[in-house]
Amino acid sequence: MGAPPDPNTSMHFPHAELDASAAARLGRWIFPAFLDNPSCPWLRVLKDLYDDPRSFPSSLAPEAGLLLHALVRNLAPRRVIETGTYLGVSSLWIAAALDEAGAGELHSFDNFEAMTPGPWRPNPLATGRLESVTAAAARAGLADRVRYHPGNCPHALHQFFRDRAPRGDSRIELAFLDADHSFEGVRAEFRAIEPHLAPGGYLVLHDTSRLSGCDGPSRLVADLPQHAQGQYALVDLYTAPVNFGMVVLHRWE
Ligand SMILES: C[S@@+](CC[C@H](N)C(=O)[O-])C[C@H]1O[C@@H](n2cnc3c(N)ncnc32)[C@H](O)[C@@H]1O
Repeated sequence: MGAPPDPNTSMHFPHAELDASAAARLGRWIFPAFLDNPSCPWLRVLKDLYDDPRSFPSSLAPEAGLLLHALVRNLAPRRVIETGTYLGVSSLWIAAALDEAGAGELHSFDNFEAMTPGPWRPNPLATGRLESVTAAAARAGLADRVRYHPGNCPHALHQFFRDRAPRGDSRIELAFLDADHSFEGVRAEFRAIEPHLAPGGYLVLHDTSRLSGCDGPSRLVADLPQHAQGQYALVDLYTAPVNFGMVVLHRWE
């Protein structure tokens, strides 16, 4: 048996690379025509968010959003944690899937602070994000599925679980990590969440490939046994149209 293919090698995914150059050249995500459905409120709001120039490249690409949506729709978790709300794009993908499954709640954590332009964010972000993501969820018809939790992630997560644990109400079945991409930051989020992740639960990390420009998530995954209490099966996914990468961890013990 040879070595597994390197998911960063474009030869394995020639079509995705062609798409990547289109998105990168335009400097925006391309909302797929087959999702352009004005009669579906959450897709309408999602399309508006992708039309916002600030959504590129920091928001989850539509293709990666579809992947996350399908995962949540099929697994039908009762409680999901998200770190990194940003403009609310990934929140809508998750909350819509919970809604279609007919049950479940999303708790999304972000500091909602103003942001200056940077290499991965050419446009500045003003304050007022909490208000705008809350309004977007309401317009999408998903206000009952998602709660936003402002604050620094590890701290707000510990607080969230501390409040629920005494009631035996802290268990989660899926977490999506997309906030602080430094190694220390993502490890702190992982450590806050993992004690509450049910056996059989899933943890999804975004930005695990070299192209993402950050090494925190990939370092955590590479040395997972050092940082984790549980045992995990791991799937490293290539994401179109740009391979920022996604790793799915399935807790089996
Ligand atoms: C890449 S964006 C999230 C994108 C979002 N998941 C999506 O796909 O639509 C990262 C977000 O995490 C937030 N963030 C980064 N570090 C954080 C921390 N330590 N605590 C709280 N929020 C943080 C940033 O403010 C930003 O809104």
